[in-house]
Amino acid sequence: MSESTILKDAPPVTAKWSGYLRVGSVVNEIANVKTIRLLPESGEGLLPFTFVPGQFLNVAFFIGGARMIRSYSISSSPTHREYLDLTIRREPRGAVSRHIVDLLRVGDLVEAGGPVGKFTFDGSEADNIVLISAGVGVTPMLSITRYLTEQAWDGEIFYIFSCSYPSEYMFAEELVSLQKKNPKLHIAVTVTRPEGTDWKGHRGRISKEFLTESVPDLTARRIHICGPSGMMDATKKLLVELGVPAEQIKIEAFGTPKPTPAAAGTTAKSMSPASGPTVNFSSSNKSSKTHLDMTNGDSPPEQTVLELSEELGIGIDFSCRIGTCGVCKVKMTSGEVDQEVQDSLDDDDKANGIILACQAKPRSEITVEA
Ligand SMILES: Cc1cc2nc3c(=O)[nH]c(=O)nc-3n(C[C@H](O)[C@H](O)[C@H](O)COP(=O)(O)OP(=O)(O)OC[C@H]3O[C@@H](n4cnc5c(N)ncnc54)[C@H](O)[C@@H]3O)c2cc1C
Ligand code: FES
Repeated sequence: MSESTILKDAPPVTAKWSGYLRVGSVVNEIANVKTIRLLPESGEGLLPFTFVPGQFLNVAFFIGGARMIRSYSISSSPTHREYLDLTIRREPRGAVSRHIVDLLRVGDLVEAGGPVGKFTFDGSEADNIVLISAGVGVTPMLSITRYLTEQAWDGEIFYIFSCSYPSEYMFAEELVSLQKKNPKLHIAVTVTRPEGTDWKGHRGRISKEFLTESVPDLTARRIHICGPSGMMDATKKLLVELGVPAEQIKIEAFGTPKPTPAAAGTTAKSMSPASGPTVNFSSSNKSSKTHLDMTNGDSPPEQTVLELSEELGIGIDFSCRIGTCGVCKVKMTSGEVDQEVQDSLDDDDKANGIILACQAKPRSEITVEA
């Protein structure tokens, strides 16, 4: 553990912040996964904001002439006020993750905004917690586990992790040392492809048996899940079948961003007819009707405000494209939209006409400030 100041008694407070942070260190965790430690812009002192374990940061880079924003969960504990860690997996064809993992160096500045997110746990929400993750979905769980242990939290923590190979069991040594400090931290790891290795632990995917063996009284507990979407859906289904009430299960999706225009001005044309409601982009002085989904007939319109903006070459920022990160917020000054997911809108946003461009499908002619 770092020797930095640990503020045991200070409860974390979130604050909306944007600016620059400086890379303090870059550490290889496992193949293709690095932890980037971010410091205040000056390189010293306290971070300009605090966060709640489980929250994430949005970071922006100019890559190939385009500004790209992505979200990364903070893996460190908010008790360390001088730094925060992002643990990032290099996606084989990913624009931003490759840039970060391959090119970011100590001393570089990173444009960032946040903290954001409601997938949080600081010990006040329940008197015990089950944290289930796979792969790089471990990041919010690490922050929570580190924080609760540093706070000497009284509740039981069930830390369940799944990975393909034993070599992908991230932070294994640190977890053992956390467990020595915290007898109420229970760790269960399963490896899906242990063949040819000396892995002696549990084998196979997360199953009902693995869950019930690892967590007594499962149905009575609050459960957080983060990992690939298939793993999250399958695990949630198992939990519901085991009798866990759906409202006790919290999920964080890391998103599946579609390949996007490589450079500003590049457009992605839809092939279906533009005969849906009109969207007026008032700041850009552009208007167009949305395209309808040919497979669904002509109602409801399937194109989102974000997709139409990309077609018109209007630069609305985005990251997750699934309603989680809030990067695509725009103000709607007239009209009505449907939004399937509104997780990143708070009451103030809703009262002020803010919508999520990645979710908003116009119900009538609308005008947005973009
Ligand atoms: C709330 C939240 C928290 C997150 N926390 C983390 C975290 O802690 N750690 C982490 O590593 N990630 C995290 N993510 C995911 C992260 O935001 C990015 O989505 C991820 O790093 C991929 O971004 P990218 O720019 O590298 O990939 P993109 O360029 O956006 O590509 C997305 C995916 O598509 C694939 N792809 C791209 N182009 C093509 C193509 N032409 N053909 C086929 N496939 C293609 C890529 O391989 C990649 O898998 C989080 C996401 C969210 C929403
Ligand atoms: S892009 Fe993340 S909420 Fe829309």
